[in-house]
Amino acid sequence: MQTRVLTVGNAPETDKNIIEAANYLRAGKLVAFPTETVYGLGADATNATAVEAIFKAKRRPADNPLIAHVADTAQLLEICHYPEPRAAALIKAFWPGPLTLVLPATDLAKKALTRGLDTVAVRMPAHPIALALIRQTGRPIAAPSANLSGKPSPTSAQHVLEDFAGYIPLILDGGLCEVGIESTVLDLSQETPLILRPGQITEADIAAVIDIPTQQQSNSEEAKKRSPGTRYRHYSPRAAVFVIGPQVSHQSASDLVAGLVASRSNSIRIGYIGWREALLTHPQIFLKKELSRNAADDLAYHLYRDLRAFDAQSVDVIIIDGVAAAGVGVSVMDRLRRAATYVFEDDSALQLFLISLQPRR
Ligand code: TXA
Ligand code: MG
Repeated sequence: MQTRVLTVGNAPETDKNIIEAANYLRAGKLVAFPTETVYGLGADATNATAVEAIFKAKRRPADNPLIAHVADTAQLLEICHYPEPRAAALIKAFWPGPLTLVLPATDLAKKALTRGLDTVAVRMPAHPIALALIRQTGRPIAAPSANLSGKPSPTSAQHVLEDFAGYIPLILDGGLCEVGIESTVLDLSQETPLILRPGQITEADIAAVIDIPTQQQSNSEEAKKRSPGTRYRHYSPRAAVFVIGPQVSHQSASDLVAGLVASRSNSIRIGYIGWREALLTHPQIFLKKELSRNAADDLAYHLYRDLRAFDAQSVDVIIIDGVAAAGVGVSVMDRLRRAATYVFEDDSALQLFLISLQPRR
């Protein structure tokens, strides 16, 4: 199969490529498209055979349900039981935008989307191409992130092509995604709302609109139970990822580089993403990407792109400076932890690791 990549101009609603893409979707074919968070791999959400093709293309575990993307309230009602007062308030505050709500599913949603659950995840993306595509198709679009299962999510059409060239018929190219990490997933299907996946819309943003017990909910055991997606390893580049927390000293960060080099008799290719001068100027680091200190938004925007770029340069190890786990930092650290081989919170954890690298006598 040949994979076509079509760009969309400034007036998506009337663009002939959107019309063509919508025809593909209505015919049960897959179309990758941009959203404000990451690219999605879309299928007609009401067509069980088309949705099945997403699972096959992504090699996604069969029990991991998809998000339905809608463009208006009528489509929302096809997918879930609504209104729910908390959902109404959140929709008013954050849609279109990077907030996914988990709500009781309709029979139509259960047919293709929910993988045996009684609930369905739904969101209205804040991207003109995504909205125009959903409207033109006239149906909700089921779309997970458009990456092979386990790989970093795609934030450009090129990334989608890397993973799916020859396997899907069409990619709509809308340039780079603005947010860079996936939407916040909030479960409203039970009495106590629970963040299943943190994102750009933070716990504090949500708590300003509805009652929600706060404090980094998405790491909790309850979140793992309620969220099929958190059971799987995620966002991993080929390279090993070492995250160093803000508490780690520059000396220990440099020791880590020295230790890694020594352990592989100089043949190791190290990449670095961060703000530490000592590493940005380090002669034994092969590839460097400077980021400003503690800029969680910036790291979110670049993270998946950088992980893929470093993989393309055959880097063996990527050292990344973590950020404080507050605000958007919570979601960035969530993605980093899932990608990481090791996370070093402080000097003693890092030094202990270095001892383990030394050859035994
Ligand atoms: O930003 C995003 O959300 C992107 C763009 C394309 O919209 N989509 C995305 O989809 O990240 P995906 O499939 O990669 O992640 C969906 C997450 C998974 O962790 C899945 O387990 C969870 O949402 N999910 C879907 N339906 C659910 C449900 N009924 N209950 C609990 N979790 C659900
Ligand atoms: Mg995904």
